[in-house]
Amino acid sequence: MNDPGFVVWFTGLSGSGKTTLGVVLEKELLKRNLRVQRLDGDIVRKSLTKDLGFSEEDRKKNIERITFVTRLLAKHGVATLVSFISPYISVRDNARKEVNEESAKFVEVFVKASVEECARRDVKGLYEKAFAGEIKNFTGVSHPYEEPPKSELVCDTENETVEESVLIILEYLEKEKIIPKS
Ligand code: ADX
Repeated sequence: MNDPGFVVWFTGLSGSGKTTLGVVLEKELLKRNLRVQRLDGDIVRKSLTKDLGFSEEDRKKNIERITFVTRLLAKHGVATLVSFISPYISVRDNARKEVNEESAKFVEVFVKASVEECARRDVKGLYEKAFAGEIKNFTGVSHPYEEPPKSELVCDTENETVEESVLIILEYLEKEKIIPKS
């Protein structure tokens, strides 16, 4: 049997920095010769979950499918980095439970940036449309985001650089003996 992998689950608003942190963390873990897989909303929603929209029901289905894949990867020793808004506490807690059932560690990282800051960044131009009412059910504007009450880590991307946030994650993974000290 393989040793289990682990999961770093990034949750936060669109534009908060989940993908950016996942990409840089992936590079760092690859340098340490770990097997790494990133799962990212912007990519997965074009394939595995392309039939889904942004209603509560569809978002729950989205995360359920991602959880299914995440669990398999973690079971087989892969460091799995998951970047989805995943706005509901219940679905994130379910993901944690499923991953833990494979004896794999689950590290929830709240990627924290205010709606105002994400709207200022507006990398994809979606906030402007959401505020204009052209996009319905937009997280943080017209759809809820349930902040994690007790995530393992909070990355405050308004006040930390990407490098600082990734270092905090790496130090946590080392401290918890999830990865060996480099
Ligand atoms: S989740 O809520 O189901 O977890 P997911 O992370 O897969 O969301 O997708 C979020 C991405 O979809 C956003 O970063 C944004 O680019 C795009 N998007 C399109 N419509 C919406 C919307 N109504 N709310 C949030 N994000 C949206």
